[in-house]
Amino acid sequence: MNALTSPRPTPHGSQAAAAPRRVGDEPTDASTEPDILCTDLVRIFTAASVEVQALQGLTLTVERGELVAVVGASGSGKSTLLAILSGLDTPTAGVARVAGRDLLTLSGRERVRFRRESVGFVWQQTSRNLLPYLTAAQNVAAVLAIAGKVKGAARGERAGELLDLLGVGYCADRRPGEMSGGEQQRVAIAVGIANEPRVLLADEPTGELDDETSAHVLEAMRDVNRELGVTTLIVTHDPAVSEHVARTVQIRDGRTATEVLRSTRRDESGAEHHVAEEYAVLDRVGRLQLPDEFVTALDLRQRVRLALEADHVGVWPGVAASSSSGQAVEASDVSADDEGGGR
Ligand SMILES: Nc1ncnc2c1ncn2[C@@H]1O[C@H](COP(=O)(O)OP(=O)(O)OP(=O)(O)O)[C@@H](O)[C@H]1O
Ligand SMILES: [Mg+2]
Repeated sequence: MNALTSPRPTPHGSQAAAAPRRVGDEPTDASTEPDILCTDLVRIFTAASVEVQALQGLTLTVERGELVAVVGASGSGKSTLLAILSGLDTPTAGVARVAGRDLLTLSGRERVRFRRESVGFVWQQTSRNLLPYLTAAQNVAAVLAIAGKVKGAARGERAGELLDLLGVGYCADRRPGEMSGGEQQRVAIAVGIANEPRVLLADEPTGELDDETSAHVLEAMRDVNRELGVTTLIVTHDPAVSEHVARTVQIRDGRTATEVLRSTRRDESGAEHHVAEEYAVLDRVGRLQLPDEFVTALDLRQRVRLALEADHVGVWPGVAASSSSGQAVEASDVSADDEGGGR
């Protein structure tokens, strides 16, 4: 597999040391720039003179080599986000940079190049990923041929290596109609990474698969991410994806709302424990979304009172009742440090 591409370092944990982000500047390969950078991203659709705000100031950063899942309910803006990140659609406002490219200013020609060289895609519909009249090997080879980087016979060999990497070498001579959904999606991943893109984007890649097959496909994506270092973003409505990735970002109403970080810790006896911690996302100007259940539990409406404490921020219902009784109810503690978490 080393013949395919050399692994890139995965700088988890080194993010804090990264240089200040330069938002919206010229294309660059500076190693400090995240591979995906969205700041206050807005996408408004106008259909029959009605405006739909599909993205309402979304902020998201994915560092080089990271594997991140974006999870959200139907209509929360996941596909809109991926369409922008893959260069298919242009945002109404905000910053969107992928693999060092500013997606708001790309010319038509640069856009074609960006889509061919910098990003790979896996879509939910298996039929959208693969050409039905070509075999798995031919599907991969066709992408290599279009890019023109790999010549003649070497393409077949490279296609074979990629299919082996995804564990579907045995499907090389089968057409999509002769493969299961899971096999087709693995081949689709091979097609997506054939040109060694810096970023792999997947929109509901397991949407048409059963739970067990979904888990295998997600593991295949994780292997590709680990072994090749390709920065990977998966969007899905399925919360189970968080078991396969270190970071899950929840999007609600076109904005990033919370993040779940998974890590492995050792206790005093040396035993390993998987820990998942949920954080509220704080944007550049200090906005955050309170979880629905918090808002409902304390019947928070319109206004809340905030109080800065030594190590957290308290949120109280802004109604007279709480102050007249002299007993404010603490709705949410938002820690000022990393350890406290948002919830
Ligand atoms: N071309 C369009 N014209 C008008 N409205 C659109 C268009 N595309 C998306 N929308 C609207 O934008 C919002 C977000 O849609 P999007 O497809 O991004 O959601 P999603 O999170 O991918 O949902 P799903 O899980 O159902 O795929 C929805 O309200 C949708 O109706
Ligand atoms: Mg969608």
